[in-house]
Amino acid sequence: MTLDLIRTIVDVRKRLDLSRVRSRIIALVPTMGALHAGHGALIDHARREADLVVVSLFVNPIQFDRAEDYQRYARVLDQDLEFCAARRVDVVFAPDVDEMYPQPQKTFVEVSGVSDHLCGAFRPGHFRGVATVVMKLFTIVQPETAYFGQKDAQQLAVIKRMVRDLNVPVRIVPVATVREPDGLALSSRNERLTPEQRRVSPVLYRALQAARQKILDGCRDAAVAREAGLAILSTEPEVRLEYFEIVDAEDMQPVARITGPVCIAAAAWLGGTRLIDNVLCEVAG
Ligand code: PAJ
Repeated sequence: MTLDLIRTIVDVRKRLDLSRVRSRIIALVPTMGALHAGHGALIDHARREADLVVVSLFVNPIQFDRAEDYQRYARVLDQDLEFCAARRVDVVFAPDVDEMYPQPQKTFVEVSGVSDHLCGAFRPGHFRGVATVVMKLFTIVQPETAYFGQKDAQQLAVIKRMVRDLNVPVRIVPVATVREPDGLALSSRNERLTPEQRRVSPVLYRALQAARQKILDGCRDAAVAREAGLAILSTEPEVRLEYFEIVDAEDMQPVARITGPVCIAAAAWLGGTRLIDNVLCEVAG
């Protein structure tokens, strides 16, 4: 099977309607391109479970809170197509901005509560932009399943909640974070790190793991577990921390006492590059 590159909504609907007639299971992997092994894990998972795999490549302007980040975002279509072909993707849907937003968007999906803390507090409008574009992609592609990385834990929680609240008939499948051997979570933004920043960067994951270990050792006081993480981060003064929080794994609300599954999440700047990461920690109540 060859890979179809489709640029318009009309064409992607036509292509997928044919498959639906043959009752094939359609999976969607939404991405912003600049694909790496993290995206690859989502695609591989989809490939194992579905008959037809659609990857969307779209750098979504309405989810960027800083114009500079949007402009600098890597756009490497040819490379992404090769990546998708090698992983036996059936359809790449790569609309341009005018196709997705022919006129200014006036309708938005806002998932309150889940979006309020962590990245939501520091990137105004970000999750509203994410939820809106994902909802548009869901209604365009109408997949049975859609794959999202645990790397963006809050994004995953927002999408899960949106689907539940709006009765969207798409099953959301979470996929574990893919990391470099030293622990740094794969991200297209990692390319921007200088060699020295790259050397320092795994400290974020080490700090998250230190907090997690504290909890696994029996600590139930979130502030104390958090301190264990912050102590690790303080060894690298170049890291400018944005947040380091322990939140409920489902609703993303900060917890004081740890009584169930939590997500330990952090965001930090290394020079002009913002890195995020998180780990899950399950404890018996
Ligand atoms: P993007 O950053 O391209 O990520 C696309 C998907 O890949 C997301 O679900 C993300 O969580 C997952 N991903 C990225 N790095 C990963 C890693 N190291 N391990 C596992 N999964 C990883 O997230 C977006 O695009 C956008 O917000 C989008 C959902 C496409 C809406 O525009």
